[in-house]
Amino acid sequence: MFALPEPPLDAIASLGHSEYERDFLRREFEPGLQYYADRLRRLMFAGGRLLDAGCGAGQWSLAASPVFERVDAFDINLPRLDVTRRLARQLGIRNVAIAAGSIESLPYAPESFDAILCYGVIVFTDIAAALEQFNRVLKPGGRVYVCLSADGWSHFLIRERGPAEPRVADIGRQTLYNAYWRRASQRGIARQLRRVLAQLREMHPRGAALRRLTATDSQQLARRSLLSLELGQQLFGQVESFCGPEFVTKLLADAWVVATDDAAPQRSLKADALLPNELEALTEQAGFEAFQWSIEGGLTCDWLQPPLAPKYEGYYEGHLSVWEAMFVKPDTRPAAAADLSRHELAAIAARSGRLFLEPGEVTVLSNASVDTFPRELFERARRIGVRLGGSKYLDLLVKAATTGATSEADAMTRLLEFVQRSIFRDPVSQPLTADGGMPDPLTILMSARGRCSHTTALLIDVFTRAGLEARPRQLTNHVIAEVKVDGRWVIADADAFKNGIVLRNRGGQLLSLDDVRDDPYQLDRYQPTGWWIRPGSRFTTGATGRQVTGYVDALDPAERGFVSGYYNASARGYPPPLPLIDHFEVSSGRLIVEWKPARDQRSRDVRYRVAVGSASRGWTYDAPGMGDQIRRTPQRDVCYVETAETRVDVPIDATAPRLYVSVTACNERVEVEPETFFWPSEEVVVDR
Ligand SMILES: C[S@@+](CC[C@H](N)C(=O)[O-])C[C@H]1O[C@@H](n2cnc3c(N)ncnc32)[C@H](O)[C@@H]1O
Repeated sequence: MFALPEPPLDAIASLGHSEYERDFLRREFEPGLQYYADRLRRLMFAGGRLLDAGCGAGQWSLAASPVFERVDAFDINLPRLDVTRRLARQLGIRNVAIAAGSIESLPYAPESFDAILCYGVIVFTDIAAALEQFNRVLKPGGRVYVCLSADGWSHFLIRERGPAEPRVADIGRQTLYNAYWRRASQRGIARQLRRVLAQLREMHPRGAALRRLTATDSQQLARRSLLSLELGQQLFGQVESFCGPEFVTKLLADAWVVATDDAAPQRSLKADALLPNELEALTEQAGFEAFQWSIEGGLTCDWLQPPLAPKYEGYYEGHLSVWEAMFVKPDTRPAAAADLSRHELAAIAARSGRLFLEPGEVTVLSNASVDTFPRELFERARRIGVRLGGSKYLDLLVKAATTGATSEADAMTRLLEFVQRSIFRDPVSQPLTADGGMPDPLTILMSARGRCSHTTALLIDVFTRAGLEARPRQLTNHVIAEVKVDGRWVIADADAFKNGIVLRNRGGQLLSLDDVRDDPYQLDRYQPTGWWIRPGSRFTTGATGRQVTGYVDALDPAERGFVSGYYNASARGYPPPLPLIDHFEVSSGRLIVEWKPARDQRSRDVRYRVAVGSASRGWTYDAPGMGDQIRRTPQRDVCYVETAETRVDVPIDATAPRLYVSVTACNERVEVEPETFFWPSEEVVVDR
């Protein structure tokens, strides 16, 4: 585990040779090296050799040093590299190699690095050249993380920091000026200006005698040329509004040069502001794939980690400001040997309750659109599948899962459990192809996330490979697989039911749709573990660190209804909501528990089951996990009471120092199915 000492901030700042540098060092090291290490963990950046391209004073390099074999800290600024070197020495770090130069021509051999980090640098360089270099020095399959700024950052510098720091405001204006020109150039403004200027010159009183034109003449002509073009008007308006009057003069001079000398506009500062589609096009030109982006701090590959506060705001006054991107150098190497543990790892990495957020001015939860599952993860899943051998790998998995099976039913349940454990229900960010379609079964498996249609597609594929007949069945708001076992078509559901819940009829046989048609309620004896539940509406802290609401409401079991209703429309019904315990105590050998009535408009008689145990059931709704533990019901070894009241007061003679209390609300559904499963309340702990 990472345990680098954090050098004192004052000592770091004192390494700066100017006030500006001391401020810079203070700002960059203030979050602490652990913060940077945590950010790298969320990107799953670890292992092999990392290039910190434009490392500055080296905080990312130092933070990365414990998880990479080697880190190359590279920058054009020698005093900053010196700070990196001194800090590494102070901290006893030996695997950070320091080198100076420009990222536009890297001094490293092809395919040297496993990953590249480039934070706050690329907009100061020739971006196409830097990306080409990244592609050259990266190994196939290696990833690049880039953090950069768009227009909002310049607006922020001008408006917020500008009044106290005129130099900073000027950087903001120059950057916007460069970006506006670049965009106009990409849309062909040079050609258009040349054409218009030629026409205007012909009409000018002093004709084509260009050399005799005064500066005022050329300014006027440049202005008229610009304003006669739609693109020119846009450029003129942007420069006038956001860069200021002195830049209008520069704009006219540059327009003149562009139109008459076929030259690029003068850039007094090498800085640009890029939007995601602009960088994406450049990464594709440089040979990368799987581009994905987010506002700063939003990208995550490790869904098990809680989000971290970003370093910068993603938007300023409606303009995208600081943002980040990740992309991959394609890996076309031949498939490696099949290895089950890789699949397990993919599944573990993807299992969590995190919701994917579409970053924007207002953070929104995505639902079932193609962009909700991060493209990078999707592409990685697809590539891993191909690398593992594609369809042949699925054959191997099926063989591994069914080897030793003693019957068709045994093979079927093994495969069902395999898929139940592999695909974690994710109602929000389900993997879909770029055109919104269902991915191939292996990509579904490697993505490890999905909904009923994903599990059904995968189940049918693996059953068929195992030699069983299988087909999809569309139900009310649900899709399942049916598989023929010993001559009977039976249900395989790896979406509503997880963790080894194999449905059986009252006779103990695998459950069929015929059984469900005759007696739908027997389905409700099983815990619907794939249908996520939370007590009431709660806020969720999203990837950007903001709180969002929206999805969890629908996941209350009282809103969802019983599973039987999804299989058979005639069985519609709703369980009561979870009871909320609001008072509990043990005194003079008696246990008193009170709860709020779990009123359910749809059911008349709500009854309560109060279970008191000496051990915890081991899970909470806030972090229910996906493992077997959620199948554990409340312990009732100390006391168990059924009541229609909202209070119990019972004698307790247990010696356990702690008691665990749950209350479960039940309704009239128990009359048609006495074993109906109802979710228990959050567990409370009573210390004696
Ligand atoms: C805003 S700082 C970011 C530094 C560091 N990555 C961080 O997160 O603190 C920008 C850095 O880019 C470096 N830089 C600018 N142009 C460069 C180039 N062409 N090649 C290498 N480094 C460059 C600067 O020297 C500076 O240290």
